[in-house]
Parts: sequence; C-alpha cells; structure tokens
Amino acid sequence: MTVDSFVAVAPEAPALPDDATQLLPPVPTGVPTPTGLGTRVALDARSISAWFGTHKVLERVSLAMPAGHVTALIGPSGCGKSTFLRILNRMHELVPSASLAGEVLLDGQDIYDPARRVTDARRSIGMVFQKPNPFPAMSIQDNVTAGLALTGVRVSAADRAALVEESLTRAGLWSEVKDRLRSPGGGLSGGQQQRLCIARSLAVRPQVLLMDEPCSALDPTSTRRVEETIGALRGEVTIVIVTHNMQQAARVSDQCAFFLAEQGTPGGIVEHGPTAQMFGSPADPRTEDYVNGRFG
Ligand SMILES: Nc1ncnc2c1ncn2[C@@H]1O[C@H](COP(=O)(O)OP(=O)(O)O)[C@@H](O)[C@H]1O
Ligand SMILES: [Mg+2]
Repeated sequence: MTVDSFVAVAPEAPALPDDATQLLPPVPTGVPTPTGLGTRVALDARSISAWFGTHKVLERVSLAMPAGHVTALIGPSGCGKSTFLRILNRMHELVPSASLAGEVLLDGQDIYDPARRVTDARRSIGMVFQKPNPFPAMSIQDNVTAGLALTGVRVSAADRAALVEESLTRAGLWSEVKDRLRSPGGGLSGGQQQRLCIARSLAVRPQVLLMDEPCSALDPTSTRRVEETIGALRGEVTIVIVTHNMQQAARVSDQCAFFLAEQGTPGGIVEHGPTAQMFGSPADPRTEDYVNGRFG
C-alpha cells in the first residue's frame, strides 16, 4: 500500500454500551518469559519508506517484531528511529507534510488499510514518549484512565477502580501511589510520572507498547525502575523501544535493530538480530563501531 498524503483524522467516538469493559481484551496471565526469537510476529513492518515533504528519511525498512519480546531500535540521532516508531502506530500522519510507503501488519492485518480506523491502531499500539507527559493538574487515577475516552473505550464506574489498580500495578507504580490516587499527577517525580504514562497506555490493554527514549529525561534510579517495568511487561506486551543507551539496550531487549543514515541518504537498518549477537558478534563493522561507542 502506498499513501501519498495524509489528513489528520480526529479520534472517533463510536457508540458503545454503558458497561463496555468486556470490549477490553483480557490481560494475559501465565505467559512464559520468551526465551528465543522464533515465536509469533506481532508487528511486521514491511518495506517502510518515509518522507517529510520531499525529504526522504527512511528507505525500505523491514523489521519483524516478535510477540512478547522487547525490540530495541538503536543508532545515531537523525537516522529515522522516531519516524519509524511513529509509523508503527499511525502518528507519522499527524505531521502535515508527512507521507510513507510500505505496510505495517499487526497480527497479519495492515494498520493502514483504509477500512481500519486510526483509533483502532492507536488503541492496540500504545506510545510512551521521551518526556513524561501526564496531565499535571489531573489526579493520578484520572491520568490512568485518560486514554480510554480518546480511544473510544468506556468503562463503568464500578470497574474503573479495578482498572486503575491493575494498570498502576503493571506499570510498577501502585505501591508508591495507592494512598494518593486523587493527588495531581504533576506532583510525582519524573520517574513516577513516566510510569504513570506507562500505566495510562496499559489501561487500554494494548498489544504493543512503543517507547521513544523513555528514560533519557530520568535519573539512573528512575531509569532502573522503568527498566524493571519493561522486564515485567515482557512476555505479555510486545515492546519496541528507542534508546541511545547501549547498556540499556543490552539489559532490556531481546533483539536490536541498528539504524543508520549515511551522508545525507535516508535512514535504513544496517543489521538486526538477537541482542547478544548484535553486541557480541555483529556482522557489520559499522554495528560493531556503534555498539562499542566509537561514533554516534
Ligand atoms: N516533523 C518533521 N518535519 C520535518 N523533518 C523531520 C520531522 N521530524 C523529523 N524530521 C527529520 O527526519 C529525519 C529523521 O528524524 P528522526 O526520526 O527524529 O530521527 P531519530 O529519532 O533517529 O533521531 C531527520 O532528518 C529529521 O530532521
Ligand atoms: Mg528520535
């Protein structure tokens, strides 16, 4: 499929029954921690090219992201990692001049199929940004459920408290905030705010969670807490994380993809593979130089 131009699409609010919690997919339980990369592909990017106006920034990038695994996108600034990530949940099209070519398959279905609603893609594929962006004056509990209305999911008042607890627990924040759920989200530390944003994403029970340098604004202790949260979600959510921190990529990911844009050419993937192999015995000397901190 090729899309030449986009118009921004406002989230639709489909009519739902009052008690619509059953519309949320169940939280998987007892999913074994993945051990290899041979499992089902959750998200499959096929031959993705991207432009801002006439400036081509990605050239035919393909990457399979296995279900329940953590995929790290690494590479120097400006090589198109954020653009690629934003294409994975249809946020790229919010930039007026942006266009793309290629396909993104979620469980085998193209999220850019004109018959599919953009809100469906964004509900199934959540995003956490570099700078924690809770609504600062809104209470912690309302921050958690803030994404529901935007993605057209309604939850009854009776089920709301349980969903808040479940989402905060999965984000690794519950024990720290359970006694102040009505306090403003802006009163939390930076690291807590980032986990609150993770909880907000998890509240709509996405299959995939995209994270764009989620720890780059955090201190080492908060970074470690977010990494623990990623580790706990592994197995039940498919995670794609952009990071400039090679130790972090090595710690949290199952596979890595190394992006590079050389001498004004569009970005592409030089090499991808299991994390141990990418760090231990990469095939391409540019990968070896990058993961050993010799450039970028
Ligand atoms: N909104 C935008 N408008 C125009 N160009 C952009 C925009 N966002 C990113 N770019 C350009 O796209 C290229 C890739 O950027 P980006 O995806 O942010 O890279 P990375 O995340 O790897 O640093 C860069 O050349 C950048 O300047
Ligand atoms: Mg970026």
